Amino acid sequence: MTNNKELKQWVDEVGRLCEADHIVWCDGSDKQYAEMIERLVKSGSAKKLNPKKRPNSILVLSDPADVARVEDQTFICSKTKEEAGPTNNWADPAEMKTKLSDLFKGSMKGRTLFVIPFSMGPIGSPIAHIGVQLSDSPYVVVNMMIMTRVGAAVLDVLGEEGEFVRCLHSVGYPLVTKDGSQRPDIPWPCDAENKFITHFPESKEIWSYGSGYGGNALLGKKCFALRIASTMARDEGWLAEHMLILKITNPEKEVRYIAAAFPSACGKTNLAMMNPTIPGWKIECVGDDIAWMKFGPDQRLYAINPEAGFFGVAPGTSMETNPNAMNSFKENAIFTNCALTDDGDVWWEEKDSTPPDHLIDWKGQDWTPDCGRKAAHPNARFTAPAKQCPVIAQEWEDPKGVPISAILFGGRRASTVPLIYEAFNWQHGTFLGATMSSEKTAAAAGKVGELRRDPMAMLPFCGYDMGDYWKHWLKMGEIGKENMPKIFYVNWFRKTDDGKWLWPGFGENSRVLKWVFERCAGQTGAEETSIGFLPTKDSLDLSGLDISDQDLDVLLSVNPAEWKDEIPKIQEHFEKFGSRLPKELAEELDRLTDRLSSVAKT
Ligand code: OXD
Ligand code: MN
Repeated sequence: MTNNKELKQWVDEVGRLCEADHIVWCDGSDKQYAEMIERLVKSGSAKKLNPKKRPNSILVLSDPADVARVEDQTFICSKTKEEAGPTNNWADPAEMKTKLSDLFKGSMKGRTLFVIPFSMGPIGSPIAHIGVQLSDSPYVVVNMMIMTRVGAAVLDVLGEEGEFVRCLHSVGYPLVTKDGSQRPDIPWPCDAENKFITHFPESKEIWSYGSGYGGNALLGKKCFALRIASTMARDEGWLAEHMLILKITNPEKEVRYIAAAFPSACGKTNLAMMNPTIPGWKIECVGDDIAWMKFGPDQRLYAINPEAGFFGVAPGTSMETNPNAMNSFKENAIFTNCALTDDGDVWWEEKDSTPPDHLIDWKGQDWTPDCGRKAAHPNARFTAPAKQCPVIAQEWEDPKGVPISAILFGGRRASTVPLIYEAFNWQHGTFLGATMSSEKTAAAAGKVGELRRDPMAMLPFCGYDMGDYWKHWLKMGEIGKENMPKIFYVNWFRKTDDGKWLWPGFGENSRVLKWVFERCAGQTGAEETSIGFLPTKDSLDLSGLDISDQDLDVLLSVNPAEWKDEIPKIQEHFEKFGSRLPKELAEELDRLTDRLSSVAKT
């Protein structure tokens, strides 16, 4: 328990509002984790997997109406609509609280309210922050125990007066309804018609109602570590970003750390845990989804992974695409919306080349390879402790964080964008992040797919006006000056005109990371072009790689005509931000336009 008066008072208030039958404080112990798993199994919410195949692991199947984040029901309730900006849904904070108080009233009748004190980041780290989630879902408790650091040690750090982010969550399925009638519990309780994921940046609160799933319900992740933390970072002078963090070591044992932001389905987890193909180089994982970066005493940016686990997309994960992820969830894992094999293990599309003859699919129905349905939901997930990752870097829990040398932005682009290029400086790099784009689907042969701008991969996660967020990035550059990381833009997804990948990807991406490493060390050359610095052919290590000169020319070229087509699209994107667009970014667009027209003239 705690002697933090504010916390005690808040727990009492919520217990009264939600009319919970019991209140249980989570101590983070293995014993409590095991009890929670038993509770989930007994209530029919979870199935224990075969301990010979997957020790201490469970499978949970959700309500088919509760399978993903709900961006249209996600709100930033800042004082004014302008503060939330054009990329967020906004609601008046007082009105939203009144509406939600009605929904939360009695929402935990017949249930237990769990108090989950958690630290985002190593407990006590100067970069970490504390949250407390109140939830009526034991599924949330076990996931939070993997994804964050939960328990008594957090309350010790919080002390009597410490600040914490209030994260209130209910699945919205009381066992005694508003008219007083009792109802039995169900395997995946939720209120599918009434989901609200709401954020109150001024008071650092999150109120989430109606969903039990992932980013809607594990409030430490997207809600706190990105949406609320981005506003804290703006106010306090640091960065909360949707970025993986990796450690790269060269054959001389020199080490650098790289952070990278890519939109969903662009291989963040795969890059963070990759097995490099170039001899003598080593890549290790510090984090796969979120980075918090603060200035250290040397004015460099130091990053921590605020999470303690991976909540990754299962379909497509295999021993070929990501063996280190596969080995991270060998045991002590939670699987959600995966299929169940006849011998009590989990399966999903592309896990192996030949699917089993029979499965129970994510909807609990019999499945055979010819049935025409997917066995796992496309957003099926694994929850696994980061410490189980075979390539987790030894310093992943270092409270002072790791110094970041480079930041990569990137997306999925079949054309136009080269394999890698380096920004001229921080301001130009901020422009590259602000204009990040990705094709919604793989383009048909020769045709470019529809583009979505996803600035810094933060489109659904920035807790305030995106124009102000870019200003904050520029301000960080003014503070850190020459100590700021170098910024690069990568594109593993370039295709030939007839739709074939030009770059093999996966472990071969280590060649690109090697170039980044060497640029940071001032050890390798580059060619200045109108969009940034590109590798010269001989500065990219291609030894042992079977790639034609022709393909390489395309991968490392800038086509001014294609780039000129980008200009009006970027203009259109920037216009959405009106007067809140930083003038520096408008200047960068003008400069790009000028550089491209002078190339065209020569
Ligand atoms: C995630 C996401 O789950 O970005 O990490 O949606
Ligand atoms: Mn993510």
